[in-house]
Amino acid sequence: MNSPIPPDDTDNLQQTGNNVPITDDVRLDARSPRDVAAPRDADGVPGDVSVPGNGAAPAADAVRRGQVGQVVFEPLRWWHLGDIVVLERKIFAEDAWTPELFWSELAQGAARHYLTAVRDDQIIGYGGLAVHDDESYIQTLGVAADARGRGVATRLLVALLRHARTRDARRCELEVRTDNAVAQSLYRRLGFVELGVRRGYYQPSGADAYVMSADRIHTGDYGRMLDAAEQAVSR
Ligand SMILES: CC(C)(COP(=O)(O)OP(=O)(O)OC[C@H]1O[C@@H](n2cnc3c(N)ncnc32)[C@H](O)[C@@H]1OP(=O)(O)O)[C@@H](O)C(=O)NCCC(=O)NCCS
Repeated sequence: MNSPIPPDDTDNLQQTGNNVPITDDVRLDARSPRDVAAPRDADGVPGDVSVPGNGAAPAADAVRRGQVGQVVFEPLRWWHLGDIVVLERKIFAEDAWTPELFWSELAQGAARHYLTAVRDDQIIGYGGLAVHDDESYIQTLGVAADARGRGVATRLLVALLRHARTRDARRCELEVRTDNAVAQSLYRRLGFVELGVRRGYYQPSGADAYVMSADRIHTGDYGRMLDAAEQAVSR
């Protein structure tokens, strides 16, 4: 996994045109869980995870065309972690999270919202969100190589952002490698803009990261944009 950045790393953020400040509690990259204080459910597992989007299955005509075919979205639970860790290693290789990190994330209870995308009883993607007051963070997002380009990540991200809205978050932030054009395009489609660059952020590779943020995610306009983005990959 990627190394946490030091607490004073915000000094290293080079603005790229948007002057929205980075919060001081930004310590970890988009692939590293945010250390957000967490209310915990009575059973110690995330209790408010929900089916993404409006909870509806993909549109029937889209399913018939096989574009979002048979993919269902479910809360990530501890018993999924064996499969998730295997997929995580395939997707992120040396940057993969450890099982302990996933356990730690699930132990954060209501401060986290993790979802899986499942096709034919196989987990093909997953994503996670952290919420703290009116701030939210995309913790991770990954889709199996053979399931990409069909809107799975878009639908996961839309679901995470809708959840952030239900938690009264007004803003969402993430980091992404500057050489990850596919992910950047996905994030831009959902209203994220670059705030700056963290030089040498990823270790040991030394790769740079963009900090990206979507603001005013609580507004009706943003909600309609999420609806449109979801519809665009369901056609
Ligand atoms: C980045 C990643 C999550 C994207 O997953 P994905 O499921 O392929 O993403 P989507 O299918 O939602 O979107 C990918 C593209 O397919 C297009 N697409 C999706 N469904 C479509 C459809 N039905 N018709 C036409 N185009 C479609 C999207 O518009 C998008 O194109 P764009 O990037 O040019 O805008 C995936 O490539 C991945 O796991 N990469 C490795 C891990 C990673 O980089 N994670 C992000 C870390 S910050």
